[in-house]
Amino acid sequence: MKSPAAFYRPLAIGAPEPVRQLPLALERTIHFLPPHIEKMRAKAAKIAATVDVLLGNLEDAIPVEAKEAARAGFIEVARSVEFGQTGLWTRVNALNSPWFLDDVSEIVAAVGNKLDVIMVPKVEGPWDIHFVDQLLALLEARHEVRKPILIHAILETAEGVKNVDDIARASPRMHGMSLGPADLAASRGMKTTRVGGGHPFYGVLADPGEEASRRAFYQQDLWHYTVARMVDACLSNGLRPFYGPFGDFDDEAGCEAQFRNAFLQGCVGAWTLHPSQIEIAKRVFSPEVEEVKFARRILDAMPDGSGAVMIDGKMQDDATWKQAKVIVDLAGLVASKDPERAAAYGF
Ligand code: GLV
Ligand code: MG
Repeated sequence: MKSPAAFYRPLAIGAPEPVRQLPLALERTIHFLPPHIEKMRAKAAKIAATVDVLLGNLEDAIPVEAKEAARAGFIEVARSVEFGQTGLWTRVNALNSPWFLDDVSEIVAAVGNKLDVIMVPKVEGPWDIHFVDQLLALLEARHEVRKPILIHAILETAEGVKNVDDIARASPRMHGMSLGPADLAASRGMKTTRVGGGHPFYGVLADPGEEASRRAFYQQDLWHYTVARMVDACLSNGLRPFYGPFGDFDDEAGCEAQFRNAFLQGCVGAWTLHPSQIEIAKRVFSPEVEEVKFARRILDAMPDGSGAVMIDGKMQDDATWKQAKVIVDLAGLVASKDPERAAAYGF
C-alpha cells in the first residue's frame, strides 16, 4: 500500500493533481447511449438534457463489428453536444479485450477535457484500477487534460466482489461503482437468465400451517448482499454506489422496486437503458417530498444537531439529525437541477 503522501501525487509528469474529494454531482440516471447508431447519435443532445449522466457505451451490447464505429460515434457526440450540468461518461471495453487500449487512448486524445468519468467493466481487484490510473495519467499529461478523468468500476465478477474494499481505495481517481447483475450472475454461477431484478424462486416460505396450500412465499432481493457490500465499500471511501441495469423494459414496476431497494440501501442512482426508465430513476433517486419536509423539521428543531426532541411522537437525537441531513442535502442537490422538485420540496 502506498504512503498517504504518495497516494495524492500525480502518476505522470504533467498530469493534473488528483482530486481529494469528489465534485458534487447529481447522478440519478446514467443513461446508456449506443453511439454506433446514427439515429441515437442524432438524439444525444435531446437525451442529455433529460438525464443526469449520458454514457457512450462501447462494451457489451455493441457488436464486435461496430466497436470502432461506437468509439468514433462517441467522440463525435462528445465533441458536438453541449452537456451543461449533465455528466459525460463512457463505458470502455474490458482490460483484456482488443479494444481497450484504443478506446482509452483515442477518447482521451480527442475529448479528454470534456470527459468526466470512464466506466471500467469486469474489475477484479485493485491491480486493474492501478493500471487504468497510470495509463490515464500518461494520456492526460500528453494531451494536456486539465482535470483528472475519474474511474467508475463495474462490480460484476465474484473476484471483484471479494475485493470490493480494495478496489474502492485503489486510487484517488475512483468515482464509484455499479452493480452489474448480468455478468455477476454468470461469474458466480447463479441460476438466472435475467438482467437484474428478482427471481420468482428466490424467497422465503412461511412455516407449514394447517393447510399446506396456503403457505405464504415472499420473494427476496437477490442483490441485497452485493449492494450492501458495495455501499459499505463506497461510502467508507467517499465514493458513490449505483445499481446497474434492469433488463425487462416492460416491467416498469419491477424496475422501480429494484431501483428503490438500492436507493434505500444507499445507492445514488442507476443505469437507464431505455427511455421509459429515465423517469423511474429520477423519481426513485430523488427523496420523497414528505420525507424531505419531515427531515427539515428535524433540522429546524435541532439547529446545532445535538440533544433530543420529540416530533409527531417520534424521538429525534444527534443520529436522526444526521439521517435528516442526508435527505435534505440530497433534496438540495436535486432542487439545484430540477425546478419542479425544488418547488415541491419548498426550496
Ligand atoms: C452489466 O454490465 C451487467 O453485466 O449486468
Ligand atoms: Mg456486464
